[in-house]
Parts: sequence; structure tokens; C-alpha cells
Amino acid sequence: MPIELDNHRKLAIAPMMELTDRHYRYLARRLTRHTLLYTEMLTSAAIIHGDREYLLGKHSSEDPIVLQLGGSDPDQMAAAARIGEDWGYQEINMNVGCPSDRVKAGRFGACLMAEPDLVRDTISAMRDAVTIPVSVKCRLGIDRDDSYEALESFVRQVASSGCQHFIVHARKAWLDGLSPKENRSVPPLRYDFVYRLKREFPDLHISINGGIESLDATLEHLAKVDGVMIGRAAYYHPAMLAEADARVFPTLTGGINHEPGMDALFEVARDYARYMHGWHEKGVRLSAMSRHLVALFQQVPGARLWRRHISEQASRAPDAMTLIDEALKFLNTDEQNPLNTAEHSERRSA
Ligand SMILES: Cc1cc2nc3c(=O)[nH]c(=O)nc-3n(C[C@H](O)[C@H](O)[C@H](O)COP(=O)(O)O)c2cc1C
Repeated sequence: MPIELDNHRKLAIAPMMELTDRHYRYLARRLTRHTLLYTEMLTSAAIIHGDREYLLGKHSSEDPIVLQLGGSDPDQMAAAARIGEDWGYQEINMNVGCPSDRVKAGRFGACLMAEPDLVRDTISAMRDAVTIPVSVKCRLGIDRDDSYEALESFVRQVASSGCQHFIVHARKAWLDGLSPKENRSVPPLRYDFVYRLKREFPDLHISINGGIESLDATLEHLAKVDGVMIGRAAYYHPAMLAEADARVFPTLTGGINHEPGMDALFEVARDYARYMHGWHEKGVRLSAMSRHLVALFQQVPGARLWRRHISEQASRAPDAMTLIDEALKFLNTDEQNPLNTAEHSERRSA
């Protein structure tokens, strides 16, 4: 049965290179059934010429999932989008927000905010090539071109391609002088620009991104825009995702309040261990997968030892289940709800 994507757009986990690989996404899906997932950015050239199983392979439970593409050659992007649809992705997203030099040299990412005609034509070519939705992830602007009017004009031109979904990282990018990392924190957040965009384009689906760190903040933004995208907080504090279905998608979960307790997180960790075991047997290093688990337990007595055990033992453990079972022993299971537990001193390390 086709997935009704609109039901899932209220919350998405951002595309993050080196972080949101298929293993992280499998883990995220154990925590939230309904949040929309994104791949890392893949260039259209890589998809056309590269190892597709490696780049595009995914677990069926990852759905609903969006494939993010980097590129600006309309024919090539259309071909890559078609391949993405064939591989079972539910949406194709064009990256118009990444500010790295490598991306700029390839004429894609945030520098394309200065070329709305090219973005429009690329989106048109992609939309002609696929039956699934095509969306854009962009910034507020670049360099000195950072007025609301410039953003509005960009969105208007791109929307004339028929594109209906925009995810806006609510800060501009400085293409010269700031590293990609600095470009995620130095330019100030201007949520008001995104809210205004939604008011002025009520028929477009507008998602907001940047600096959103909790489900409380998510629900506040959802009063003003259609969707919220969370990046770093979803990676570095994944346990918060365990509450997303009940709090953000109550209609999809039938209003059941799944109170995520310690037992549920333990089960997620054990399930992920079994998953890692399968991949380890196929030759994937345990540390390449276990790194995503490190942040699962926080503010729980023993969490520091959990992290340390996984980081230090991943390359030595005989198998994934032993690695995780041993690490779980460091956690204090007396606490009722690890998500609400205040910082404790780590008694066992004493
Ligand atoms: C390590 C890292 C890699 C990223 N890679 C991508 C990417 O591949 N494509 C993209 O559109 N944005 C990428 N981003 C930006 C995020 O998608 C997001 O826009 C940004 O982190 C702001 O959201 P946050 O404050 O919730 O983290 C990346 C961010 C990080 C931290």
C-alpha cells in the first residue's frame, strides 16, 4: 500500500553526511515509526555511476524515507531521481543548502540559491521523471543576499516548477569565510522569515529547520509551519525520538501514549545488536555501526561507562550481542524513566 507521506511530514530527521547512514536510520526507526527519515546527500553522478546497492540499499522498515540528491544538471538529476524511485524511496529532495567548498565547486548546494532558474529547471526535469514528490531543502539566503524579499523571490520561482515542499534551514550561509560547521551555528537563526513564508504561501508545505532541540519546541513551531526537521539533536540525543510518535503523531498512533522507559531503550539496543550482528557477518566493522548507539543512554547512572565501553570495545568484542550486553550492564536499571532522570553521579565508576 502506498505511504501517505503528508501524514509523516510533521517531523523529519535531517540529512546529515557521515551520520544518517542506513544503520543510524535503522536505529532511528526502532525509536519512532512515523518520523520522516532522510538519506545523507548523494550526488547525482554517484548514483548514476556508483555502486547502487552500497549507496541506495535500505531496510524496508526505514520507510517513509526521502532520498536527498546533490547536483544541478537537470538531465542527470532527473536520471538519478528515477533511479531513486525505482529503489523504493518515497520522495526526492534537492540539496540547496550545503555550503562546503566541494559542493560549491560542483555547482550544487547553497550556491544555487543565487540561481533560482536553474533550480526551477532541475526540479521540473526531476518531477517529469518520477511519480513521487520532489522537494527542496534550502537556506534563508547566501552572503549579503539575505533579505526576506530575496528568499520569497527564490521560493516563488522554484515553486513555479510545481514543487510544493520546501524545508528551510532558518539561517543564511556565508559561502566565503565560514566552514560548513560554522555555517550551522554562526549565522543567526531567523525563524520569523520561515513563519512569514508560510503565511505568504499558504498552499505550499513549509518545514522549518535549524537549532530545534526538543519535542516541546517542535510542537511550538508546528503551530506556525507545516513541518519540523531536526538534525543534530536527533543524532546526539536519539532517546527523544522515542516520544515522537505519541507527541507529534497522535492520530497515527491512535493516541496511545507510549511512555518510553528504560526497558524500551534496552530492547532497542538489543534489537540493534542483532541487526549489527547480521551486517558484521557480512564484513561491516562493528564500530561503523555501534557509533550510532553511543548517545542512546544519557543522564542515566552509568551512561558514561556505557559510552566508553562501546567506543573502546567495538573493535575487540567477539560479536555485537556480547558488546551490547556487556555495555548494558553498566546502566542502572532502577530508574523508572531515563528520559526524565536528572543528571546523576555515576556511582558505579567510583
Ligand atoms: C554532520 C552534518 C552533516 C550534514 N550533512 C547534510 C547533508 O548531507 N545534506 C543537507 O541538506 N544538510 C546537511 N547537514 C545540515 C542538516 O541537515 C541541518 O540542516 C543542520 O544541521 C541544521 O539543523 P539542526 O540545527 O537541527 O542540526 C548536515 C549537518 C551536519 C551536522
